[in-house]
Amino acid sequence: MSKKYAVIKGVQGALPDYVLTNKELETLVDTNDEWITTRTGIKERRILKDKDKAASDLAANAVEKLLEKTGTNKDDIELVIVATVTADMVFPDTANITCDKAGLNNAFGFDINAACSGFLFALTTGAQYIETGRLKKVIVVGVDVMSTIIDYTDRATCVIFGDGCGAVLLEASEDSGVIDSVFRGDGSGRHYLHMKAGGSLKPASKETVENREHYVYQEGRTVFKHAVKGMSTTVQEVMDRNNLTADDIDWVVPHQANMRIISSVADMLRFPMEKVMQNIAHYGNTTAGTLPLCLWDYESKLKKGDKIILTAFGGGFTWGATYLIWGYDG
Ligand code: UT7
Repeated sequence: MSKKYAVIKGVQGALPDYVLTNKELETLVDTNDEWITTRTGIKERRILKDKDKAASDLAANAVEKLLEKTGTNKDDIELVIVATVTADMVFPDTANITCDKAGLNNAFGFDINAACSGFLFALTTGAQYIETGRLKKVIVVGVDVMSTIIDYTDRATCVIFGDGCGAVLLEASEDSGVIDSVFRGDGSGRHYLHMKAGGSLKPASKETVENREHYVYQEGRTVFKHAVKGMSTTVQEVMDRNNLTADDIDWVVPHQANMRIISSVADMLRFPMEKVMQNIAHYGNTTAGTLPLCLWDYESKLKKGDKIILTAFGGGFTWGATYLIWGYDG
């Protein structure tokens, strides 16, 4: 029997309407457009302003449009995996809330929390259900509403992050799909990128709120160095394992955290920037949303058979690279 792969059959993004520009950030913290542009490559990011909306609303919107554009019946979806660090609630999981809001009555769901590597890890998890023949149609979502955990008085973090969502539909294929992944983790990295309170270590209290401990804490320079090293080494490893050189790769899809990280990784691996997907200028760092949002923005340029490497690095630390072969002409 020939090997079964899980191939991406469609991709869809969902973004909030509100655009937070560098100019507006200048009115909130001591920063300026020139610093943000040269140090990060970001010009604007999207922010979910509706107080009654959450990650599941962006996810359900992306899922419904994805099903429409791929002509897929809602009842045929068997599993939805949502990668996020900004779940609607601590529990239940956002995937099940998404299924409810999108009207997916035959699907079960669960969340994956691996910060900026969440979508990458979820993609391989979803793919494995299809490769084994256990399921036929799986949706993988990467979504984050970072504005809910960002301190808009902290210039070191508030200029980087944004809100956004992307979703892909996975189905079985004989000749293309997710081929291989190299994933890594190092829990000691938690000290450099985390949210201090709101978990079992430090439950929410008057004191944690007063100390502003329900926001992202990041030691940017340390994270930056680990990100460049982590992404470039795992990309090289997955290429070596599959006998690929930079020339063989049609597209690289890097996590969109900082334009300088993206170009350093591309330089180290000798990928020309024309092959490297970039949309950080418009969305900033949407954590689990960056990779599927890149695929969505570049969908019309993708061709069946394109060899693509996705790579991410994030809180945990978590990082890795996935090699896949694209399944349709965009
Ligand atoms: O996605 C998850 C993983 N996260 C990442 O990959 C993010 C990795 N880190 C980064 O992208 C960068 O480290 C940052 C964008 C967060 C910061 O850029 P940096 O070039 O590493 O800046 P820095 O922290 O080394 O700070 C340099 C200077 C400092 O001033 P002094 O001490 O040299 O006078 C900062 O206070 O820039 C200052 N600074 C700012 N100035 C204007 C820091 N943030 C700002 C700001 N506007 N927003």
